[in-house]
Amino acid sequence: DAAYETILVETRGAVGLVTLNRPKALNALNARLIGELGDAIQAFEADEAIGAVVIAGGEKAFAAGADITEMASKSFTDVYFADLGGAWGRLVACRKPRIAAVSGYALGGGAELAQMCDVVIASETAKFGQPEITLGIIPGFGGTQRLTRAIGKAKAMDLILTGRMMDAEEAERSGLVSRVVPGDRLLDEALSAAAKIASFSRAAVLAAKEAVEVAHETGLSEGVRFERRAFQALFATEDQKEGMVAFVEKRKPAFRNR
Ligand code: CAA
Repeated sequence: DAAYETILVETRGAVGLVTLNRPKALNALNARLIGELGDAIQAFEADEAIGAVVIAGGEKAFAAGADITEMASKSFTDVYFADLGGAWGRLVACRKPRIAAVSGYALGGGAELAQMCDVVIASETAKFGQPEITLGIIPGFGGTQRLTRAIGKAKAMDLILTGRMMDAEEAERSGLVSRVVPGDRLLDEALSAAAKIASFSRAAVLAAKEAVEVAHETGLSEGVRFERRAFQALFATEDQKEGMVAFVEKRKPAFRNR
């Protein structure tokens, strides 16, 4: 879209692809980029033809964090009223699955953007870190919360307090990354995972994502209750009939999102 300055937006079949595009600043997340990313994700959320979204960066950097030059001279009231952290709300509220395709640096806000995605596919070159402490601040786009839930307190404290980076292998072992692939396979792997997700019943996909998210936010018995009701509700869809009849008839299901 010509209206976007900091991202590239395209569709590949039923997949929406957003590529962060401030290569000279290693895709530093300034207010404009965060706003444009929110617009693009919201548009994909509203587009019935889209079933999943991939968020990619560049080869050297997925994103090297919030834009330090933009933040450097800001006062408390500047950042309080600008509320860049809150500006991610539109992305997080999107119910369609988001896949992050991470190559190179995913630091600070860039790591936090990956943590806001449902599936994280990393190239072997990926490096994750929360270096905010080295700047005299702390993570501000959810990192102390989402990273801790993703990889546990010991690893999260290590990364957030020392500012060190972890490589793709450690990130996968720790549970931050879903899969690690060779760099030349990264975008294909992310796009084909997204296409696969988009090929399934939309209602089942949204319910599955929502139920896993509930696991992060509630206790076990409440979560299991939520899952059971969502599971039962899917029996009201035509896609459930189609999926099961197709299995019995040994053919591929044709989901119609009904
Ligand atoms: N903000 C603004 N500009 C950035 C940036 C950032 N986060 N990260 C990199 N850049 C810019 C550099 O200033 C440089 O610009 P110039 O060419 O105009 O000098 C350009 O991108 C290339 O970067 P480097 O020359 O530094 O590249 P390098 O290969 O030597 O180092 C790096 C790469 C280790 C990632 C280094 O750029 C770096 O440490 N970046 C900052 C990482 C960081 O601290 N991120 C956290 C930001 S705070 C945050 O995110 C807060 C939050 O949670 C909300």
